[in-house]
Formats: sequence, C-alpha cells, structure tokens
Amino acid sequence: MAKTALKPLSNKRVLLGISAGIAAYKGPDLVRKLTELGAEVEVILTRNADQFVAPLALQAVSGRPVHNYAMTAESESGMGHIDLARWADIVLIAPATANVIARLCQGNADELLTTVCVATQAPVAIAPAMNQQMWQNPATIENLATLAKRNTLILGPDSGEQACGEVGPGRMLQPTDIAARVGASFSTGSLSGKNVMITAGPTWEAIDPVRGITNHSSGLMGYALAQAAVEAGATVTLVSGPTNLPPPERVKCVNIISALDMRQAVFNDIDSQDIFIGVAAVADYRPIDSADQKIKKNADEMVIKMTKNPDILAEVACHTNRPFCVGFAAETNDVVDYARGKLERKKLDMIAANRVGIADGGFGSQNNAITLITKEAVIELPKQNKFALARNLISNISEHLPE
Ligand code: C5P
Repeated sequence: MAKTALKPLSNKRVLLGISAGIAAYKGPDLVRKLTELGAEVEVILTRNADQFVAPLALQAVSGRPVHNYAMTAESESGMGHIDLARWADIVLIAPATANVIARLCQGNADELLTTVCVATQAPVAIAPAMNQQMWQNPATIENLATLAKRNTLILGPDSGEQACGEVGPGRMLQPTDIAARVGASFSTGSLSGKNVMITAGPTWEAIDPVRGITNHSSGLMGYALAQAAVEAGATVTLVSGPTNLPPPERVKCVNIISALDMRQAVFNDIDSQDIFIGVAAVADYRPIDSADQKIKKNADEMVIKMTKNPDILAEVACHTNRPFCVGFAAETNDVVDYARGKLERKKLDMIAANRVGIADGGFGSQNNAITLITKEAVIELPKQNKFALARNLISNISEHLPE
C-alpha cells in the first residue's frame, strides 16, 4: 500500500492540558516535541499550574495564546470550551495530577480543562505524574481503572527518583516519549493515499413538498467513520442524507436528500474510490409520485404507491473496477447469520453487523458494538463509543485491503 512521508502528528490538533504538578515545568519541551511531530498545539493550564510553568514560555513555543482555568465571558467569547472541544483531535493532559484524574473520573466540569474533557468527542490521553504514595493510593488506582475502561489512553508513569526525594512509580514520562505515543495513537498512514467514500444518515423520500418518508438514522456512525478515515490519512467523500451533524473537518461532504440523489452523488465519483463504506440507512421504498404542491387533507383515506429504491451498495459492488466494499447490517436477531447472507448476496468484502432494538446501541446512541464479517473472518468489536469504534473499524478495513 502506498504510504506518504507524513509525520505521525501531521494534520493533528493536540489540546494540551497542563495541571498543577512539578512536572509541569516540562510543558514547553512537550509542546516542542509535539510540534516537531507535526501537531498544532493549544494549551490550557489548570488552576495553579502557572506556579510551575510560565504561560509566556508556552505561548512562545506553541505560537498561540495560552488558556487559563477560568471560564469568563471574555475567554468564552474567543475560543470557548465548545470550540476547543471540537477543535481537538486529541486532548492530552500532561502532567495529570491525582486531583485532575479524580475530577476526570467524576466527569466534573469545574474549570476550563475539565469542561472541555466532558464536552469533547476526541480521545483523551493522560500522562500521570505524582508522588509514589499518591499513585499507589486505592482511590487513584480505582480512578485510573475507570478512565481506562472509558478508553482514556494512559501514558506511563515512569518509576524512579521523584522531586519529593522519594523513589517509586509516579514520574511523568519524558516529553519525547509522550509525543511519540500520542502520534502512535492515531496510527496515521494506514489509509494514506487512499480515497474513501462513505454514505451516511437517512434518506428523505418526498410525498409532497413538506412531507416525506424517512427513518431515525442520526448519521453519527458514518460521520465518525469519515473522521477516522481522515485520521488514517485517507481523502474522504461523505455522501450524507439530512442530519443534524456538522460536517467533519477535512472531509468533502456532499449533501443529498433522497436515495436517488444519493445514488447519483455516489456514481459521480465512484471510479476514483479505493474503499466504499455504505453506512446510510437508505429508504427501501419511495413514493412513485411526489406531489408538486402540499396535499390537502380532503380524503378520509389515502394510499401512497411506492416503488423500490436502488440498492446503492449492491450496485457499487457490481461496478467494474469496484472499490473495496463494506456494508452495515442492523439486525434484531441471528445477527451474524443474516449479515453473512447479506455479505454474499451483495457481493461485499466486509460487513459490519450490529444488533438493534437493544438499550444503548444502534440508531441514535453514542455507543455501539459490532461484529465484522469477511469471507474468512469474524471479528468482534465490543461496545464502545462510536468514535472509538470507528477508528477500530477503519484499522480493520486497512488490514483487510488487497495488497
Ligand atoms: O439490505 P439492507 O438495507 O439491510 O443493507 C444495509 C446495507 O446496504 C447498508 O450498508 C446500507 O448503507 C446499504 N444500502 C444501500 N442502498 C439501499 C439499501 C441499503 O446502499 N437501498
């Protein structure tokens, strides 16, 4: 597979939170190491962190003004907490004190950094740094286990001599090491040079100019996949039905309404695609006639005659020089069997099967669990946030691409 010489953090935005521990003095060096790997870095200091590191030094190396802990009318009128939360590709907290770890664990939003952590969909990484007794305290141990369960990336700590004179675990990892691990967390490059097209969201099949037939797809899974594919270095086209989601950054977004529009948009650009992922919940049928004007409610009954929509994914899979084709199958029961049937019938390379009709999964939910099926393999991706799942899925797709 063609790979470009991207740096591990090219095109990546790192929101660096520095909390009030002695290792904060390494902050400027960490900013340098992150930028050397290609990252853009914004810094947020927690309360008192400026006792350990000079904001001006951080501003000089990051090239951007440094945010402090406070959420004031003035700070929120600039790049406020929601803007920062959206801006970040990853939130890195280094050093992460026992206190900030406990607050993350609680989901506290008591100052700017913790609020951004609650508001962001980006992954969060922490580099703990504290006295070895604090590190071994049962509360800290439990808090760390909770964060790990939530997919927080925990970097370190190292063991050795500490600022307080004690020896043991709790030293922050060296900035070079932290930056390298943050870079590795994106596994950038697995789809470098690849063109990926994704369909997402519902379609809207008009009955008249104000009414239509649609479904509950939020589009979240498709949008998350688009973002994960960009992170993996791909050039991404997202063909999306109507959703309430902002278009992911660095993605070419083609907005469509109906299944026929979606098919048109897909085939306009299918020949240049290496990978096609059909995530859209395309309406199976559309009204044969859509009225030009609003239908009046004069009749007691009405019949809407429908016709079948084209199966866009199946058509792409039959196209000459077809891309690698991935489909989704939402099933309530016998998930793997039905999905395997769909894989064969639609001539797909891979299908992602998920169980719908359960609490906290599928349509509209933030979480999902998926069984990935190819001709040869069945891979379980356990329940996780849709963004984590999307990265996992993209990584599996890149591993299954033909040489
Ligand atoms: O057959 P079923 O609708 O269950 O298949 C789901 C898969 O097929 C999804 O990947 C979906 O995006 C795709 N699909 C499509 N066009 C349709 C129906 C489904 O691309 N008309």
